[in-house]
Amino acid sequence: MSAQSQSFDNSASFARKLDERDSLKHFRERFYMPKQANGEDVLYFTGNSLGLQPKTTRGYIDQELKDWETFGVEGHFHAKNPWMPYHEFLTGQMAEVVGAKPLEVVVMNSLTVNLHLLMVSFYRPAGKRRKIVIEKGAFPSDQYAVQSQIRFHQTRESRVESREWRDTSVPPASAGGFSSHLIELTPRESETILRTEDILSTIRQNGDEIALILLGGVNYYTGQAFDFEAITRAGHEAGAVVGFDLAHAAGNLLLNLHDWNVDFAAWCSYKYLNSGPGGIAGVFVHENHAESFDLPRFAGWWGHDKQTRFLMGDEFVPMRGAEGWQISNPPIFQMASLRASLEIFHEAGMKNLRGKSVKLTNYLESLLKQIETDRIEIITPASSDERGCQLSIRVRKADRSLFKAISDRGVIADWREPDVIRVAPVPLYNSFTDVWKFAETLRNCLS
Ligand SMILES: Cc1ncc(COP(=O)(O)O)c(C=O)c1O
Repeated sequence: MSAQSQSFDNSASFARKLDERDSLKHFRERFYMPKQANGEDVLYFTGNSLGLQPKTTRGYIDQELKDWETFGVEGHFHAKNPWMPYHEFLTGQMAEVVGAKPLEVVVMNSLTVNLHLLMVSFYRPAGKRRKIVIEKGAFPSDQYAVQSQIRFHQTRESRVESREWRDTSVPPASAGGFSSHLIELTPRESETILRTEDILSTIRQNGDEIALILLGGVNYYTGQAFDFEAITRAGHEAGAVVGFDLAHAAGNLLLNLHDWNVDFAAWCSYKYLNSGPGGIAGVFVHENHAESFDLPRFAGWWGHDKQTRFLMGDEFVPMRGAEGWQISNPPIFQMASLRASLEIFHEAGMKNLRGKSVKLTNYLESLLKQIETDRIEIITPASSDERGCQLSIRVRKADRSLFKAISDRGVIADWREPDVIRVAPVPLYNSFTDVWKFAETLRNCLS
């Protein structure tokens, strides 16, 4: 439901009432809230950038430090949580977060690394079908990853064709030519968000040339959430592979990757999933590809069949499912940290969290609309079906001094050039009172 039809009372007492009625309010106590210089809690709205630390995280990491101290290498088998299968302890709960089967999910590496590894398997340009569809203004790392994958294939093919592949002094024949293989989805003139109908018609019109569709589940800048199911269906009808970067969607939206038939997805866990800076990332590969052993993939011993991994044979035998894309033995401390957070998600339940999130963001939208100014424009879609918790607020004629002013008053939000403040009230640790205080702060600074 959109806040267009919902106008909330803008008093502090009403915010408190909403908090009293919030059945998830106790989860805030499970997190460390950063403090201002005066000792008060900050108003933290950057869970879309780096989530807060669960108070249990230290205990999870300490356990592994202790077991390392006690067992040394034997910790792989004798640690309280043996390290050998440690990643498996996270699979079930991670699968719950993204609506997947455990077979379809694994935690490994970092997000952009995983996008590359998945594109090695799922971007297979051939014949006329060579293009990648992304949203214009996708997160830069996604753009660089996609551009470099296109160049990689172009370079390889042109060198092989011209028999120059041995001669590394020859510059790639196609240097700079990736754009002809890229379809960038662009909003209509004078609009900021993409219309689903336009996305679908672009896919249909270019169907036989599209090899891969790779979109951010929620665009990092505008906060727009895409229609996963419709896009995946249209992509498949066109004969393309469909993947999503869920950096801003995992732990934020109610996802159903398996049922939507998404081919693959990757996400980081340091934003909504609170695993800490640079935390280990997640990967989804649909069950349909669980035994696609003919797909090219960059292999390493951790993707090899568990039963025979330590026979140290020279022939790679990939595991079924997402685990078969693993390369290296995974970082235990990073996984311990993520595990602490996933336990909280499991306890709270994604459905409940999303329910509160919709209310929090609608409430924020309503308060912003009640600020008497014509300078504010919310560029995030108005419908909660098309957004997660983030609102991107364009402030006309603003510069960084406005952002500094709200920061000086205890708000931690995010400024994106030229004039956008991104604010993400997170249902696990943000309250309705936080949202009310933010709106008041912005109102005061604008006036
Ligand atoms: C949408 C999106 N893609 C990719 C990245 C890059 O992630 P990483 O540095 O973990 O590879 C980010 C980081 O914020 C992101 O928001």
